[in-house]
Amino acid sequence: MNRSMQFGSEIIVIGGGVIGLATAIELRLMGAEVKVLCKDFKAAAGHAAAGMLAPQAEQILTGSMLDLCLASRELYPEWVRKIESISGVDAGYWQCGILAPRYHQVDKSIQWLDMATIHDRQAGLSESIVGGYWYPADGQVDNRALIRSLFDASQSLGIKFLDGLEVTNIRHNCGRVTHLETSQGDITAQHYILATGAWSQQLLPIPVVPRKGQMLSVLVPTEQIAYLPLQQVLFGEEIYIVPRRDGKIIIGATNEDVGFTPQNTPRGVQQLLTNATRLFPILQDFPIHESWWGFRPATPDQLPILGSSPYDNLTLATGHHRNGILLTPITAKLIADLVWHQQADNLLSAMSYQRFNPC
Ligand code: FAD
Ligand code: GLY
Repeated sequence: MNRSMQFGSEIIVIGGGVIGLATAIELRLMGAEVKVLCKDFKAAAGHAAAGMLAPQAEQILTGSMLDLCLASRELYPEWVRKIESISGVDAGYWQCGILAPRYHQVDKSIQWLDMATIHDRQAGLSESIVGGYWYPADGQVDNRALIRSLFDASQSLGIKFLDGLEVTNIRHNCGRVTHLETSQGDITAQHYILATGAWSQQLLPIPVVPRKGQMLSVLVPTEQIAYLPLQQVLFGEEIYIVPRRDGKIIIGATNEDVGFTPQNTPRGVQQLLTNATRLFPILQDFPIHESWWGFRPATPDQLPILGSSPYDNLTLATGHHRNGILLTPITAKLIADLVWHQQADNLLSAMSYQRFNPC
């Protein structure tokens, strides 16, 4: 049997999560012919996330990662409007602000709210909260709606999305990728982009490892839905609570070093429920809606790996760890500019894979 499949595609994106889809769309809008190959669309971390756009609440305090995150947060409103206008699907972008309550007095900063102010800002917080930070420029997007919006936009633009197709090997010769071996035969293109999230190390020796996060959601009871008791994200200690406009409340997340072990566990769910109901006790009587888990693509220094690779025609877009939803617009832009226009933005220099093997 001839296992060889020759596509005429110029660019192949390996991985169909938020990063792969958004990059494919950016390249398509520049005029490229693009295909996305995806082992398992439903397993993408983009479906499992909370959707917080939270450089400040996540305590990214200085340096190139902060620059990257702030640049992406800035791009969000216009970028999301662009995707929505192509797809017709609302992605639930909401600059609702993030409140970070604390049980103990900590170093105060310009964003610090004292006890009276924080309880005034959010009714129903635990009485043990002594103050907290308020980050009005942080916010959220409904990540599941975003991934639907990206998928539909990609289809409207004529991007071929091959789900259930696993790339098993990246074959190369003299510093160039020659072809991909896949579960459906060999595939070639002029250029390749690796956007395989937590699974990246299965294809290339780069230090991206899975960090499991368990999540659950509750529903605001019908009689309270008209005024939604929570209209900003609460980013507590070891817990966050993210209200959606439709009355769902997302609660997350564990951070576990257990490889790709699937499923929710009693310990994980108990940790979420204990911390969430301590911080915001009215959740105790809200109906539980759903529980799920996903795998963050973590790197040793928590920065993504973006840009060139050991091979001329392979570009890396992976390792976004806790902030991949936030970093989607800037990643798509930087990678598309690099691949299509050979323009390397300064923001890319600290994100190179070479920082892990400098010789
Ligand atoms: P993924 O979304 O994981 O997609 C990778 C895709 O590649 C998958 O579909 C996979 O099947 C496919 N693939 C893998 N290997 C192959 C192969 N060999 N061949 C073909 N396809 C392959 N980020 C935020 O900014 N804000 C948040 O609030 C937030 N909350 C999070 C909460 C949790 C519980 C988790 C798990 C993550 C959270 N994140 C958050 C992080 C964010 O979800 C990720 O950083 C982001 O989704 C990574 O996107 P990606 O496209 O690189 O990878
Ligand atoms: N950024 C939230 C998380 O990764 O859990």
